Amino acid sequence: MVGSEALAAEAAERWRRGELVAFPTETVYGLGAAARDPAAVAKVFAAKGRPADHPLIVHLAAADAAPAWARSWEPRAARLAAAFWPGPLTLIVPRAADVPDAVTGGQDTVGLRVPNHALALALLEAFGEGVAAPSANRFGAVSPTTAAHVALELGDAVDLIVDGGPCRVGVESTIVDLSGEAARLLRPGGVPAEAIEEALGTPLAASGPEAPRAPGTLNSHYAPRAELRVVAPAAVDAALADALRAGRRVVHLGAEDRGAPRIALPASFEGAARRLYAALREVDAAGFELAVVALPEARGLGRAVADRLKRAAAPRE
Ligand code: TXA
Ligand code: MG
Repeated sequence: MVGSEALAAEAAERWRRGELVAFPTETVYGLGAAARDPAAVAKVFAAKGRPADHPLIVHLAAADAAPAWARSWEPRAARLAAAFWPGPLTLIVPRAADVPDAVTGGQDTVGLRVPNHALALALLEAFGEGVAAPSANRFGAVSPTTAAHVALELGDAVDLIVDGGPCRVGVESTIVDLSGEAARLLRPGGVPAEAIEEALGTPLAASGPEAPRAPGTLNSHYAPRAELRVVAPAAVDAALADALRAGRRVVHLGAEDRGAPRIALPASFEGAARRLYAALREVDAAGFELAVVALPEARGLGRAVADRLKRAAAPRE
């Protein structure tokens, strides 16, 4: 397609010049900068309002580019890359000596991922190098799943926004830390943890207090302005009734009408993941002060949806 080739060439040229290009992936939109250009990477932190010691994921066009970023590329990394790349999985591995501190937040590890999105891959191939990219939102805010969300979040701080339509997966990549003895789940995401455990043949260790810093794992994150109440499925009706009785501008995030205003959130895990961030934005845009939503089961993609809902509902720091 000529259109996407021209777009890829423009994005690559801008990355070479040290500019910021927001681009679609299958999970959420990323705010990309040339990973080997510390001045460009610094602009990402400034645009997001993100603390500089929080590391960024390096996005690559293909798995065979990954070992150059790692001090060691173990068989288990190769196995997970072969099983899930391109796809919504980020691998944390010991970093190669020449990976800029700006990308890793000064840590001894680097996060790597090959996204499963044709346009993203076209951009990365045209650039031919790694692109450091966090989600293209202001720090702590809801991740963008459309180009319009990116424009709302970052506006003039970004030099080019590549529009690839709504993101297919809708929640961020699963992050697995391979820098220690046991493979560890740092963030549930687009690849179910069960699938990773099956590919590894061992269970994933849970993220402990000594885990490397991961801001997506701060308690309050992905937060809308409105209050969010995440309750057991059986408690949804009572929570809505209480709020309505108290005269609150409440909305139900869900698949079925429950006698209150409703913003659609599909019952399937995949559907809920795809719609989640847009639905949270709609709560604010429609002026609701409170949203009530049922907590999904923590299996498959439901685990990522449940994780994001809990963080969106957590007290703000
Ligand atoms: O799906 C995704 O992963 C999206 C798209 C754009 O690829 N990216 C994304 O980036 O969610 P970000 O920066 O919003 O979240 C990445 C998370 C952060 O919590 C960061 O701290 C963590 O990954 N991370 C990155 N490098 C790390 C490292 N070396 N060690 C531990 N955590 C790391
Ligand atoms: Mg993020």
